[in-house]
This record gives sequence, structure tokens and C-alpha cells, in this order.
Amino acid sequence: MDYIDEYLKNNLKPSRLDHTYNVRDLAVKLADIYGADRDKAEKAALYHDMCKGKDFTDEKLNECVIRFGLDRKYLNKSALSHGKVAAKIMESELGITDRDILNAVSYHTTGRPGMSLLEKIIFVSDAGEPGRTYEGSDEIRETAFTDIDKACLMALEKTIAYVKSSGGDLDEDSVYTRDWFMKMEKERRENG
Ligand SMILES: [Fe+2]
Ligand SMILES: [Fe+2]
Repeated sequence: MDYIDEYLKNNLKPSRLDHTYNVRDLAVKLADIYGADRDKAEKAALYHDMCKGKDFTDEKLNECVIRFGLDRKYLNKSALSHGKVAAKIMESELGITDRDILNAVSYHTTGRPGMSLLEKIIFVSDAGEPGRTYEGSDEIRETAFTDIDKACLMALEKTIAYVKSSGGDLDEDSVYTRDWFMKMEKERRENG
């Protein structure tokens, strides 16, 4: 068994493990549909929530935010920091150097303006994998098969609305990314 499978099995609770493999399966499907590298999609998916396991307490995540020189806005915000920290650990401790994989993990919670196809695949697979139960998740998944940009925009709108209504922590990167997709969508409409 690969290192990461072993690591995930020992560290993630069962529901998180199921989520990770669901993200992997959807990401590989989407990679095939859109002509992205399926090995990279699989790798990014398997690692994306590695810092949501029992090894990574809030204290440990805070320590990592400081150690890796990440923005201090991520302190005490595990929902926002876990992807950033995972990417840093993959790069500095696990020998993963592929920038696209690292970005896909780092930005899986928020996306970013100018995100790559692989980043979109991981972002939307995380939001729309079949184990997700929030309203609209099925629609995000269905849309992803035919229009990945539209599916990303739907997922961002959902995330932003949910975080606002629940009083959670919103990373402004989510807003910048939504605006970027909206601008693209508008240009697409104008150009027919
Ligand atoms: Fe995550
Ligand atoms: Fe996830």
C-alpha cells in the first residue's frame, strides 16, 4: 500500500476517509473527461485533506502556519489552513514538487483567480463528491461533467452563502475567485 493510503487510514476518521476516496474517484473521472493528467488528479485528491486527521490538532496547525510563514489570518482557522499546510508539508517533507498538484491542494477550499484545470477538478470534486449532502451538491457534480467553470462558480456561491449564514470564517480568496469566474462567464455570454 502506498504511503499516503496507509497514512490516511491511520489518521482520518472513517467519514473523512470515505470523502477522500470519493473526491479521488470524481477527480479521476473529470480528469478523463477534460483531458487532465489523471495521476496528478489522483495524487492531489488523496493528499488534499491529509491535515484534517488526528495528527493535526488546532495547535499543530497553528504551529505549521508560523513555521511555513503562511499568512497569520490562518491562525485558529483550521477550515481555511488545512489545505495550505498540507501543500507545504507535501513539498518540504514528502518530496512532492509538482507545482500544479501543490496548488490544487493549497487552493482546494477557496480556488483562486487564474486557477488551472487540475485545481478546478480538485476544487469541484471536493464540493460535489457524492457523499456531500448539502442542498445543491448533486447539481454541482452533474454540472461538473459538462461545464466545469459553471460548476466551480456554483460551488463558490454555495460556500460563500453558507459561510455567511453560519457565521463561519470566510477567506476573501473565495470571493476573488467567484468574481473571476463571474467575469469569465459574462465574457463568455457576450462572445456568444
Ligand atoms: Fe479540505
Ligand atoms: Fe475535502
